[in-house]
Amino acid sequence: MPARILLIDDDAGIRDSMRMPLEYEGYEYTAAASAEEGIAAIQRESPDILFLDIKMPGMDGLEALTQIKVLDEGLPVVMISAHGSAAVGADATRRGAVDFIEKPFGAERLLVTIRNVLNQSRLRDENRSLKRAVEARHQMVGESGSLRQVWDAIKRAAPTNATVLLLGESGVGKELVARSIHRNSLRSRERFVQVNCAAIPEELIESELFGHEKGSFTGATEKQIGKFEQADKGTIFLDEIGDMSAKTQAKVLRVLQEGEVERLGSARTIKVDVRVIAATNKELEQEIEKGTFREDLYFRLSVIPITVPPLRDRRDDIPPLVRHFADLFSREHNRRPQRFTQAALDFMHKARWKGNVRELRNTVERLIIMTPRDTIDVDDLRDIVRLDTKPAAGDTEKERPGTLREFKEVAERAFLVEKLREHNWNISKTAEVIGTPRSNLYKKLEQYGISQENDA
Ligand SMILES: Nc1ncnc2c1ncn2[C@@H]1O[C@H](COP(=O)(O)OP(=O)(O)OP(=O)(O)O)[C@@H](O)[C@H]1O
Ligand SMILES: [Mg+2]
Repeated sequence: MPARILLIDDDAGIRDSMRMPLEYEGYEYTAAASAEEGIAAIQRESPDILFLDIKMPGMDGLEALTQIKVLDEGLPVVMISAHGSAAVGADATRRGAVDFIEKPFGAERLLVTIRNVLNQSRLRDENRSLKRAVEARHQMVGESGSLRQVWDAIKRAAPTNATVLLLGESGVGKELVARSIHRNSLRSRERFVQVNCAAIPEELIESELFGHEKGSFTGATEKQIGKFEQADKGTIFLDEIGDMSAKTQAKVLRVLQEGEVERLGSARTIKVDVRVIAATNKELEQEIEKGTFREDLYFRLSVIPITVPPLRDRRDDIPPLVRHFADLFSREHNRRPQRFTQAALDFMHKARWKGNVRELRNTVERLIIMTPRDTIDVDDLRDIVRLDTKPAAGDTEKERPGTLREFKEVAERAFLVEKLREHNWNISKTAEVIGTPRSNLYKKLEQYGISQENDA
């Protein structure tokens, strides 16, 4: 689309002389003889650039500029000042004009200015959509009751400086929660520094966290600033904290207590003002019992504990998540928007999602790439999405429960299936016999994906 240029000048000579060169360059050109007429033209044609004369009878250019800025804040305005009144033009740029040119000017001058302004606003637009894309990546989607509770906790925790401990299975969104806390905090303009404690080799983690001086150990050829120092005034996110060695745990505890760090190989202590958010998918209480995680560090970290529930406990988040990821990935892979049929959404609603939101996200991305049609239906899912049916007998080798909770779930499921079979899949009867309300039994059937069809 050709860029639209609007010129507001009371001098008919200038208005007419610009038409040919601008149209020759392929621009769409409109001219207005007064500020009032020009403002009407802005509303009518929403130009890409406005050239605005300062000295005009009636409303002058500076006053018009103020009104136009209210009307359309993003419209780039270039002021035209009379010869020798550059100071007025400079004043106008302070009031929000992007540039000014002095009379008399030739068409060439106008064309150069147009090119510059268009380049700048293109850059600005690109930055804006880049920023929007980044935000979409870190947007938290879902409206289930349990996710709302997480949101409430985020809002309560964010404005404080309290240490937050994020708990929950792999892939539930702990990192996203950590970022939201930072983004909603008073530190949002400062850095968010992430450290994956499990990914860094034991010999390096201390120098990663606390930094080191040049020559402090073999291989330390340059000095390094540690993550705690980098995060000064901002937030440090200690991810997979359950994988930290005892020695590092002791040092981290000291930093939390004293608010200062020492680089390796230096006796100097450095004050740091850092907000700490930690996360783990391990059951820290068990680690404490085993003696692999320090209880005192646990207490320090869990001033505000937030547990992010697994996806199977908030299935209502699945449809909005699917839509969100579908949008995200069709944009990212330059695909036309694809729609999931209701049946496909229902299917996904029931699937098992062992890997939680991460697995759902990867599945949707794969579907978007692999499905050539505009709609994605159940048939597209059958081979890649596993329904939440049998962690039942036969499968047990693979499904052997690791945690107490998993054991309880497996046992509960097996018990329910057995009782249902005993009573011929009569729900009311079974509920009565096992002493639970019918509604609860229905909930359990849904939770474990139990059905007569699959489990009879
Ligand atoms: N509510 C949500 N809305 C949108 N995207 C989400 C949501 N929850 C998680 N995700 C996405 O799912 C993926 C996994 O989330 P994240 O990395 O935060 O999980 P995690 O709990 O840190 O897992 P792990 O313990 O394995 O590190 C990410 O790509 C994240 O953006
Ligand atoms: Mg994570």
